[in-house]
Amino acid sequence: MTRTRMDVWNRTQGEGDWPEVLLAYARAVEVMRSLDPSTGKPTDPLSWQFQAAMHGRATRTGSADRSHALWSRCQHGSWFFLPWHRMYLAAFEAVVQHHLGDDQWSLPYWYALDPDRPATSVLPPAFREARADNHLFTENRSVLANGGDPLPDVSDSVTQALQVELFSTDTGVASFGGGERSQPSFFGEEMGAVEDTPHGFVHVVVGNDFDAAGNTVREGWMGSFFTAGLDPLFWLHHANLDRLWQVWLDADPSHRNPPDGDPAWFRTKFRFPDPAGGTRTYRVGDVLDPEALGYTYEDLSVPSTFPAPPPVPAPPAPPAPEGGGIEMGGAEEPPPPLRATPQVVGATQDVSLAAASPAIVELSEPSDLGLGDAGVTGPTRVYLRIEGITGTAAAPAYEVYLNLPAGDAGADHPELLAGRLATFGLAEASRGDSVHGGSGLTKVFEITPVRDALADRGRWDPAQVTVSFEPVLPTPSDTDALAQAATGEARAPDLRAARVVVLSA
Ligand code: C2O
Repeated sequence: MTRTRMDVWNRTQGEGDWPEVLLAYARAVEVMRSLDPSTGKPTDPLSWQFQAAMHGRATRTGSADRSHALWSRCQHGSWFFLPWHRMYLAAFEAVVQHHLGDDQWSLPYWYALDPDRPATSVLPPAFREARADNHLFTENRSVLANGGDPLPDVSDSVTQALQVELFSTDTGVASFGGGERSQPSFFGEEMGAVEDTPHGFVHVVVGNDFDAAGNTVREGWMGSFFTAGLDPLFWLHHANLDRLWQVWLDADPSHRNPPDGDPAWFRTKFRFPDPAGGTRTYRVGDVLDPEALGYTYEDLSVPSTFPAPPPVPAPPAPPAPEGGGIEMGGAEEPPPPLRATPQVVGATQDVSLAAASPAIVELSEPSDLGLGDAGVTGPTRVYLRIEGITGTAAAPAYEVYLNLPAGDAGADHPELLAGRLATFGLAEASRGDSVHGGSGLTKVFEITPVRDALADRGRWDPAQVTVSFEPVLPTPSDTDALAQAATGEARAPDLRAARVVVLSA
């Protein structure tokens, strides 16, 4: 029987602040916390801190703690992001069921950036009730999150992510699920559209407080790989990400997971504690269908902002079947053609994303951009790749604009918005340690629509593009609490990209 993971806000509206599914969840969190030692490392794989440590745990010096074989294994910045977190949730759900003695309990999901319901970007009330015996509440969140304020509305990022055509690519082309990697890696490098915003953005804004300049003034659990799983809200946020993967697959018949033939993805395995004892191993190829894992979601529809696909001409009537089985036409549909490898047509090195002036990328081969002398857009597609983003201080996200007229604010030019760049995992990806070399985050945007919008206005410059970064800042209504929270010295954002590249394919 298939269980249904329910929308936490629908449950709250239907049953009140403490719907049955959350009462049970809070009981399980309490039991799991009781299995943790009061000091030192967790030892019971079914305890709260142990479960969180599998995502990430910091050593005293701040690097990834891998003193247990199952710790600090989360997959970010690659095509393993979605499958690894799906496995992590499935194994966690089984642990909760075990503690509750209820194999029908299902993790609810929190759709934080629903383009159709901005009000659901507020944390559900059960997570905000500040009582010492409320196991869904923690003070290790931002003033905005616990104050019941809505997150900044960047829900159009969800719509954009759902429109990205490819699950993963080896380099250069924007992807939904992240860059291809031959080996599992803690940080990967290249974030897919869904991993960056909504995913990382929600982490950072729920976790951390920021001052008006974009400096982090206090860090909470959701803001770091090493603590995120400690917040009971983490699991509901990830159930939503997992749901969006299926929404993406259903949204357009051309959306597909990487083909079976790619063993680097399909056959990669990860291990998790099993409530029955020992560990269970999942293979990426075996977790691609939620129903095969025993669950589905209350709602898998695309937002109303998702553009309707062009009408499909009616297929010719099929010939009458001759004996044997009936073949479904759809099953023979070929996979989408492989895109040409994108070529670099311009690049600039070492860019400060916090600088007041835009980065300038000179284009060496303007004809490749499909904007020949006539200024007519061709069939080529253009991408902006921001590579090796490192830093220790940053706003939760930056809006990336192309060719913004000097003195204008990005908000006045939605047509020039390439996309958003969230900074979840920035500090972790920036420090070199035993797990990774500190090569930073990488993000790719398709900028074909912006190029076309500029060309339509006669404002495309074939010789260069300028790239501006504007911080996206939350504005909590409780400014006193925010001032109180600001205990440390604020630093100026030190966000840099090793390279900003324009590619065309
Ligand atoms: Cu592995 Cu939302 O993080």
